[in-house]
Amino acid sequence: TSLYLFCNVICHFSFLGVLAQENLPEDQFAHGSSYIAASYIKYLEGAGARVVPIRINRTEEEYTKIFYSVNGLLLPGGNVDIQTSQFTRAAKIFYDLALKANDAGDYFPIWGTCQGFQQLSVLTSNKNLLTLTDTKAVALPLTLTPAAQSSRLFRSFPKDVLQSLADENITSNFHSWSLSLQNYSRNAKLKRFYKVLSTNTDGKKEFISTMEAYRYPFYAVQWHPEKSPFEWIDKPGMVHSIAAIRACFYTASFFVSEAMKNHHSFSNLVEEERALIYNFSPVFRGIHAVFVQNYYFD
Ligand SMILES: *[C@@H]1O[C@H](CO)[C@@H](O)[C@H](O)[C@H]1NC(C)=O
Ligand SMILES: *[C@@H]1O[C@H](CO)[C@@H](O)[C@H](O)[C@H]1NC(C)=O
Ligand SMILES: *[C@@H]1O[C@H](CO)[C@@H](O)[C@H](O)[C@H]1NC(C)=O
Repeated sequence: TSLYLFCNVICHFSFLGVLAQENLPEDQFAHGSSYIAASYIKYLEGAGARVVPIRINRTEEEYTKIFYSVNGLLLPGGNVDIQTSQFTRAAKIFYDLALKANDAGDYFPIWGTCQGFQQLSVLTSNKNLLTLTDTKAVALPLTLTPAAQSSRLFRSFPKDVLQSLADENITSNFHSWSLSLQNYSRNAKLKRFYKVLSTNTDGKKEFISTMEAYRYPFYAVQWHPEKSPFEWIDKPGMVHSIAAIRACFYTASFFVSEAMKNHHSFSNLVEEERALIYNFSPVFRGIHAVFVQNYYFD
């Protein structure tokens, strides 16, 4: 169709895969086996992408087919084992495909948030180098590194947004595990692969809060841009200020712009329609639940 022909010339839209993960045993609303928090879907939709949920426990062939149909992958936050889960298995398949594609000049971006950040660190180093920090519900200002200004990610931000990120407590941290600057520096694989764009500390340990890969369009934030506009749990660390919401938008907008740089596409409209998140309805879990709405999958 002419739509696909058009995209082969220049893409002004993108399809982004978001990886599902195993349901939590204590989730009373769960059905099926996996979920995606709706805030990650809204986050990308708000920056102009269409979302394709990627379900766990699929064959490598299915994942490969999805890889060549979507223009980027987001690994969300959550709470699964980042070495043994089905989430990890799928993330590794996509990560390996993305390394190969990028090496061959096929620009395929990956974004990791919180657990997604941690997952990327494990995939790159082949080790879990994380350490416990006191960062369960706190909003922090980013300590930007000298590399931040010229980074692909932050150089795309308006000056005042970057200033707010550096000066105000607007990044939501909801993690027990962190990648310390110490372990990053001591691991040759991580150090060669990622450029540190910001750090934070829990008062004792300095950890990496934002990084981007040197040679790949891979990005990772330990904080939660998507929570500011889209989650409403009543806890310290939640920030709904205009500055926080603008920072959220510019992270998503940057990632969506990265996903417009490859020509992956569905082979036809029927396949495309079947793959989209619009086929599913989110479940409302309560305004003060950790995730307001989740999508559940069999
Ligand atoms: C899917 O899950 C089942 C049950 O947990 C497991 O036996 C099977 O190997 C999984 N399949 C894939 C492709 O991972
Ligand atoms: C470094 O990684 C190890 C796991 O290999 C972990 O036990 C340790 O706590 C980490 N140390 C720091 C300071 O991050
Ligand atoms: C603001 O960030 C600082 C770290 O720069 C931290 O010590 C403080 O606890 C944070 N305040 C709030 C209200 O989260």
